[in-house]
Amino acid sequence: MNAINRLTAVISLASLLPLSALAAETGTVEVLHWWTSGGEAKAVETLKEQVKKDGFVWKDNAVAGGGGAAAMTVLKTRAISGNPPAAAQIKGPDIQDWGALGLLTDLDDVAKANNWDALLPAKVADIMKYDGNYVAVPVNIHRVNWLWINPQVFQKAGAKVPTTLDEFFVAADQLKAAGFVPLAHGGQPWQDSTVFEDLVLSILGPKGYHAAFVELDEKTLTSDKMVEVFTTLKRVGTYMDANRAGRDWNIAAAEVINGKAGMQIMGDWAKSEWTAAGKVAGKDYECVPFPGTQGSFAYNIDSLAMFKLKKEEDIKAQADLAKIALEPAFQTVFNQNKGSLPVRQDMDMSAFDACTQKSAVDFKDAEKGDGLQPSMAHNMATTLAVQGAIFDVVTNFLNNPSADPTKATAQLVSAIKSAK
Ligand code: BGC
Repeated sequence: MNAINRLTAVISLASLLPLSALAAETGTVEVLHWWTSGGEAKAVETLKEQVKKDGFVWKDNAVAGGGGAAAMTVLKTRAISGNPPAAAQIKGPDIQDWGALGLLTDLDDVAKANNWDALLPAKVADIMKYDGNYVAVPVNIHRVNWLWINPQVFQKAGAKVPTTLDEFFVAADQLKAAGFVPLAHGGQPWQDSTVFEDLVLSILGPKGYHAAFVELDEKTLTSDKMVEVFTTLKRVGTYMDANRAGRDWNIAAAEVINGKAGMQIMGDWAKSEWTAAGKVAGKDYECVPFPGTQGSFAYNIDSLAMFKLKKEEDIKAQADLAKIALEPAFQTVFNQNKGSLPVRQDMDMSAFDACTQKSAVDFKDAEKGDGLQPSMAHNMATTLAVQGAIFDVVTNFLNNPSADPTKATAQLVSAIKSAK
């Protein structure tokens, strides 16, 4: 076939396709997210591939910075200038704020057609709705209260996997004595507060955690137990290395993976780095609930909120993204790479590793009582303003060796009050 004939064949084939299909092929979906580490990028790739397979164009807007603070700044600037992306990683109570601004689109057609109400836990569905309508789609459930362990390092140090805070300090001392960094950590506010919230969950228990971070109850925030949390945080800080300032969480994870450090306190996105490095859960590494938080599950649900768009073909691309996000095939491969639990409740968990299977069991158990709690450090428990106030107090405290734990609790209350 010569070039002219080939062109004629393509044109006549195109004329057989309905107009809507032609238009759909050009639809673009721009997604703003902060999944930029090696493991996270692999996970997001699975979403990109599916969007492309469905005939749409994926426009990547990846803003580096764990925890998402930088991504949120970019999103605000875009929204203020009247040019938001089609979808953005927005979580928890923040979805309500964006909904109240009138910027989010109604996804109820996709939700009804794909039975979201039946697939999602009611608690999760509620977070995704503004004024009774779906405006966001969840992709996973992360658990924040994990401790990641390199068993080879533990063995060399003669240390035992800790289940209590006392055992944690015993193991940390043994790791230190054997010449390892006991606790890999990145000195960034959200990482400092990830450790802080785990300590609150461990020392105050799930009810106290709820009173502190959801109810922002003054008595709880200034209680003796909270003083104990700050005192313990200071002690935990002495097992982190001195050069941690600004270090990204995945670099800290790599220190445990490479055997330089023994432990990391981090949510299960840390597992994405172990998986990307070809390591096997239960063999090359251990995941255990943060000491003293067995039975509790601090959840962090990643979701994509969808903005109002003008172009018909882009709206189709956006609806396709929303649909894909909850399809079983995507839920499996995305979450295998991301380290999280599928958010759909009807999934076959045999395709997941030991850590995720444990997480699924723990989620169900925690759901029965008070154990299931929203993560403060990961935007699930309170507004970004209050969260920012807590971050400041915690990070200043951790970086100041002479800071006083009792004073820190008073600072916590006044910072929260002025942020409310
Ligand atoms: C997000 C995760 C992400 C992690 C590190 C968390 O707040 O929920 O999806 O992997 O931050 O960036």
